[in-house]
Amino acid sequence: MEAAMAAINAVTDFSVEGDIGVVTLNSPPVNALSAAVREGLQGAFDAAIADAAVKAIVLICDGKTFIAGADITEFGKAMTGPSLQDVQNVIENSPKPVIAAIHGTALGGGLEVALVANYRVAVPSAKAGLPEVNIGLLPGAGGTQRLPRIVGVEKALEMVTTGQHVPAKAAHAMGLFDELVEEGKLREGAIAFAKAVVAENRPLKKVRDLNEKVEAARGKPEIFEAFRKANAKKFRGFMAPENNIKCIEAAVNLPFDEGLKAERKLFMELMTGSQSAAQRYVFFAERQAAKIPDVPDDTPTIPVKKVGVIGAGTMGGGIAMNFLNAGIPVTIIEAKQENLERGVGIIRKNYENTAKKGRLTQDDVEKRMALLTPSMEMEALADCDMIIEAVFELMEIKKEVFTKLDKIAKPGAILATNTSYLDVDAIAAVTSRPESVIGTHFFSPANVMRLLELVRGDKTSKDVIATCMKLSKTIGKVPVLVGVCYGFVGNRMLAQRQREAQKLILEGAMPWDVDRVLYDFGLPMGPFAMSDLAGLDIGWDPAKTSSSTVREVLCEMDRRGQKNGKGFYDYDENRNAKPSPVVEEVIRDFAEKRQIQRREITDQEILERCLYPMVNEGAKILEEGKAIRASDIDIVWINGYGWPVYSGGPMFWGELVGLDKVLAKMKQFHAELGDDFKPSALLERLVAEGKGFKDA
Ligand code: 3HC
Ligand code: NAI
Repeated sequence: MEAAMAAINAVTDFSVEGDIGVVTLNSPPVNALSAAVREGLQGAFDAAIADAAVKAIVLICDGKTFIAGADITEFGKAMTGPSLQDVQNVIENSPKPVIAAIHGTALGGGLEVALVANYRVAVPSAKAGLPEVNIGLLPGAGGTQRLPRIVGVEKALEMVTTGQHVPAKAAHAMGLFDELVEEGKLREGAIAFAKAVVAENRPLKKVRDLNEKVEAARGKPEIFEAFRKANAKKFRGFMAPENNIKCIEAAVNLPFDEGLKAERKLFMELMTGSQSAAQRYVFFAERQAAKIPDVPDDTPTIPVKKVGVIGAGTMGGGIAMNFLNAGIPVTIIEAKQENLERGVGIIRKNYENTAKKGRLTQDDVEKRMALLTPSMEMEALADCDMIIEAVFELMEIKKEVFTKLDKIAKPGAILATNTSYLDVDAIAAVTSRPESVIGTHFFSPANVMRLLELVRGDKTSKDVIATCMKLSKTIGKVPVLVGVCYGFVGNRMLAQRQREAQKLILEGAMPWDVDRVLYDFGLPMGPFAMSDLAGLDIGWDPAKTSSSTVREVLCEMDRRGQKNGKGFYDYDENRNAKPSPVVEEVIRDFAEKRQIQRREITDQEILERCLYPMVNEGAKILEEGKAIRASDIDIVWINGYGWPVYSGGPMFWGELVGLDKVLAKMKQFHAELGDDFKPSALLERLVAEGKGFKDA
């Protein structure tokens, strides 16, 4: 017999089915543990425990997921209502068995709630994880103390430092889920499980009392040292992984309640620091970037069932792979037969390499390759819903391609260009349908890098924008909508840094000084190491060379970068770089010929000279309306150029430094070094008004 459902509050219900109490949360979108949810949970559990008819309690969620964690929007604000720990205490101390019924994702605080239940049942599509590390935190509600008690120290270390979402089957195998029930039948399955627990009078097992797995690691600090060492590169610069590791160490070495205290302390250290603030900002910034004010969610989209790619070079091949990976057929066109064969060959080789690493089966490789149609005829694109041009970066060639494409492509097909710098409006203007034209600026390697700058032309239609935003998600990209300007958002800002790097080595720094400062800041690589990797001779023409830059001089000396063992650095046979005395000489000589007085340059100056002009350029981009919001610029830099997420992107970082400080330095450099440092009007205004970029 089922009693009527009683609303505990707006987001929580309690009902009784036979002798099982069912607590149901319904707080869209993800049942995050807001004050209302915590209050509702506490009220519902109090009611269930007090109800004499109830012998066991099931906690289940409506909507697309089980609790996905603490409510991140509440962080940094004063807490209201019961704390998560209060709620957990009620559940963990329940004299009646509690069963968490999991679908969707039990994440962070959500999994921590499930871990104070006595049992966890889930559907096969469910996932569980402690992803706090990804927002610069650690599981602060006992997750680090309870998880290793179930899954053991090694797995716990991996889960808390990667934030991975563990699929149900694996979670079941490691004991995190006690039982898997039929998909779509979670409620029935969980109630049946609860009934069995009651009927069999199963013990009120508590995770906190399971000590065997943590004891197994006691007195073995080498486990943690080895883990730190193995992941040092991945964790570089981040505070949260280390604090997570320390928590697992505490779980191993301290009694449970002491471990909880250690967890709290390490949690607060992160919560009050700037890294987590930056990472939480990035979490929301990424979601915000998906929202285009004048392109509402219900804007019609164009079905994209077949894609064309023109050019099978470095970018075309990678772009094609994105669609093949998503099961979308691709026709790829080349001007040269040998380039077509080479391009298709590289795609196959990439897939085969992935298969060798065990991440694809040979069958998957063949399936993907079967979706690819290589051709030398543009006419083969006639049935494509979207066509992406990735030919040479020359306006004349692009115009020629789009003129032809206009005649061949079916009406309504999206015509996209992968240009890095060129004017998308000028390209659109050669067609009879500029509303169908958009820039899709992929980053290299295009099958790997997450960023996709979508370049909105003057006439690009909203349907085309909405389609490309949606399609980006289908192919696993993070799209950011930007406006037409030279280099768009990313490369336009990069140019600032590159210019200063080149100037600094003439004024007194060496390439390895500049690279070291930027690497230590958290970037994946400095500009000179990057040039060596890409090849110094990209775009260098031996017939036209005139020793006008250090790079040209190095190319003339056959120093072409990593590929021939010498560039800005000297490389050994394992491609380890070391500063080159030859290059040092070249630079000194070059500066002398130009009568540049070399001087001592501090690391601080390198950082400020390279990065402040980027913040300033970002402000110009905003003031010109080429980016919708400052946080979009940060998303470009994090996903396209490896800006360290723990400083939030250049715009967030500029605010961390203090916009007033950035402006003052820009003014000083402007006076000393010239117009490259002219402060943006927006930056001046924001500082004068004491505002930040979000108020721009
Ligand atoms: N708090 C507040 N809002 C959240 C949230 C959270 N924990 N998780 C998601 N949201 C919001 C998103 O901002 C988004 O809002 P919007 O529609 O207004 O933009 C909406 O929920 C839907 O989110 P997604 O677009 O990300 O939806 P998906 O279906 O793609 O993904 C998800 C769902 C896997 C749950 C993903 O949102 C996610 O990973 N969320 C974060 C999970 C997390 O980090 N949990 C740990 C929180 S910290 C914690 O628990 C501390 C504890 O240890 C004390
Ligand atoms: P690429 O030189 O490697 O490849 C270009 C290919 O296009 C060549 O194989 C060429 O034969 C082919 N091609 C030229 N004209 C053609 C035509 N009319 N029809 C069919 N095929 C034709 O060049 P890459 O690096 O792939 O660049 C392509 C575009 O992507 C450029 O606009 C570039 O600016 C842009 N881009 C490049 C990035 C990079 O890192 N390489 C990053 C982001 C954008």
